[in-house]
Amino acid sequence: MKFFIDTANLDHIREARDLGILDGVTTNPSLMAKEGIAGDAAVRRHYETICQLTQGDVSAEVIATDYDGILREGRELVKIAPNIVVKVPMIREGIRAIRQMADEGIRTNCTLVFSAGQAILAAKAGATYLSPFIGRIDDTNWDGMALIREIAEIYAIQGYDTEILAASIRSALHIVESAKAGADVVTCPLNAILGLLRHPLTDIGLAQFLADHQKANV
Ligand code: G3P
Repeated sequence: MKFFIDTANLDHIREARDLGILDGVTTNPSLMAKEGIAGDAAVRRHYETICQLTQGDVSAEVIATDYDGILREGRELVKIAPNIVVKVPMIREGIRAIRQMADEGIRTNCTLVFSAGQAILAAKAGATYLSPFIGRIDDTNWDGMALIREIAEIYAIQGYDTEILAASIRSALHIVESAKAGADVVTCPLNAILGLLRHPLTDIGLAQFLADHQKANV
């Protein structure tokens, strides 16, 4: 399973990259706004910087919701760097644009996915990645991980190439469950990635090893 970081924060991207486990980055308009990145030129410069920080795929989301606008933005975004993937919302015009971009060799990430039916449509349209939002489903008291399992089963049966990118990850447990459910990629905030490191028995065990070493070497 590939690890993407879900942020537009450059320090967080560097920290995940320096851990040696980073395979890519996903962003969205909310994450860009959170970093204070506003205006077309600033957004473009920010994507250029992110693409210099990682060789992995970088999802850059379109703002347009009409077919021509999505295509226009997508074709501009991929000029930024070869590792840009165009993130397109799961709407009628988005599906049409994903099909067209696939035909042009432009890679896409179909986002805001909440059902298996949407997942089938995105795969049929030729999306490179599919982003089901686990945490936001959990927020509504439904089981987000069940959707990952369902899509993984369908894609395996049907032989679809689209990669399942588990998104809206909120915890280290979500990452573990995504791996078990068959996600190809998981995109998560830095704190969820770092959460994988933590176990109290590791801390207790290390403290004991170091104390014993100290005692034996006085
Ligand atoms: O990038 C899309 C997704 O990961 C958003 O996550 O936490 O805002 O639901 P969240």
